[in-house]
Amino acid sequence: MAVKYNTDFLGDVISKDEWKAMAPFTKEAFRMVKKGSGAGNDFLGWVSLPDDYDKEEFARIEAAAERIKGSCDIFVVLGIGGSYLGARAAIEFVKSPLYNNLKKDTPDVYFAGNNISPTALTELLSICEGKDICVNVISKSGTTTETAIAFRVFKKLLTDRYGVEGARSRIFATTDRARGTLKQYADECGFETFVVPDDVGGRFSVLTAVGLLPIAVAGIDIKELMRGASEARAAYSSENLFKNDVLKYAATRNILYRRGKSVEIMVGYEPYMLMLNEWWKQLYGESEGKENKGILPASVVFSTDLHSLGQYIQEGRRDLFETVLSVKNPGASFVIPEDDANVDGLNFLAGKELDEVNKTAMIATLFAHNDGGVPNNLIEISDRSPYSLGYLIYFFELACAVSGYLLGVNPFNQPGVESYKKNMFALLGKPGYEQEGKILRKRMK
Ligand code: PA5
Repeated sequence: MAVKYNTDFLGDVISKDEWKAMAPFTKEAFRMVKKGSGAGNDFLGWVSLPDDYDKEEFARIEAAAERIKGSCDIFVVLGIGGSYLGARAAIEFVKSPLYNNLKKDTPDVYFAGNNISPTALTELLSICEGKDICVNVISKSGTTTETAIAFRVFKKLLTDRYGVEGARSRIFATTDRARGTLKQYADECGFETFVVPDDVGGRFSVLTAVGLLPIAVAGIDIKELMRGASEARAAYSSENLFKNDVLKYAATRNILYRRGKSVEIMVGYEPYMLMLNEWWKQLYGESEGKENKGILPASVVFSTDLHSLGQYIQEGRRDLFETVLSVKNPGASFVIPEDDANVDGLNFLAGKELDEVNKTAMIATLFAHNDGGVPNNLIEISDRSPYSLGYLIYFFELACAVSGYLLGVNPFNQPGVESYKKNMFALLGKPGYEQEGKILRKRMK
């Protein structure tokens, strides 16, 4: 198994009887996912995706990735939320957060259209000067403001630089199969299009073209990613909580939440896990945070953040628990050197692997936080391979759906995301929003 769930560091907070008592509920929640009998059941395409994906499109993704690799220095990915987090997390986890700065034979990959910052857009445009560019616009709806503004800018840049014909072969659109303005526009312009399946929501879409094209362009084996997810699907098929780590993790979260632990902190010990944390936060936050319920997903990267949030976690409000994600084989070996001066007194570490010190920091912190009253889940992933990542992605997606049903919410909608959009459009004077605009302007005085 590429992913193992370890409950040894939860402390004594959950007895076997409590898990036993949860077993019928996790069984029922899992059945709702499998049978599609729960709320949001028209968004369950991700469940069978690792096996039942569109093989013809998959081959097109691989072919497009090869063409992109051969024709550009920079691949710009435009998308927000579920339309970019998975790809970015995968590239940083499997390759590196410094991917763009490393020597490689694949294009740099930049993510834009995920904010409304003039600074970020200007900086990226300046990085693109004199470079060959391809663009992947990713939006299921096709109307997301952040992404659409950035697409206007890059479409113009490509058309000015390569002409209409040239731009056509460099723009790729990942969007709804048939509906939506982006699909229509892409077809009119002759861009190659890829599909966000109807039954897969943004935050569950990393194993569709949404994630797969950028991931493949970065030189990551997407077949292996899918193989890992497929094996996870098979491994997490039991309805018995004691034989299925996904159900056990979901049960633990629910028990802790009902005990008043309303914040879950995802902990990594490697900077390459920062964006994976962000992907996980969106998956859980947008799926569970509704109807005034839900665990707030937060994240840290230790040991860095032990020097910022460590104090709070050790001694602040006791309404939190942690989920530590540990990579058994970190993918690099580094031996600590001897130093003649030894002014830091650390020669006792000379000759040790840096990862041994990192893992020791992890164990030390697990004990310390346990002693401070913070229960810790420990999830161990074998390595940074695409296979293991695919396995982990499926673990978290399935656990998220089961957790949402245990909580009694629809894990697949996001009605709350509309509120800011409505206000923003009203204040910016979008036609049709005049009344809301008047009300908001009064509130601003
Ligand atoms: O998870 C989700 O559904 C959201 O985060 C969306 O991915 C995000 O809002 C972007 O939407 P769209 O792909 O329609 O531009």
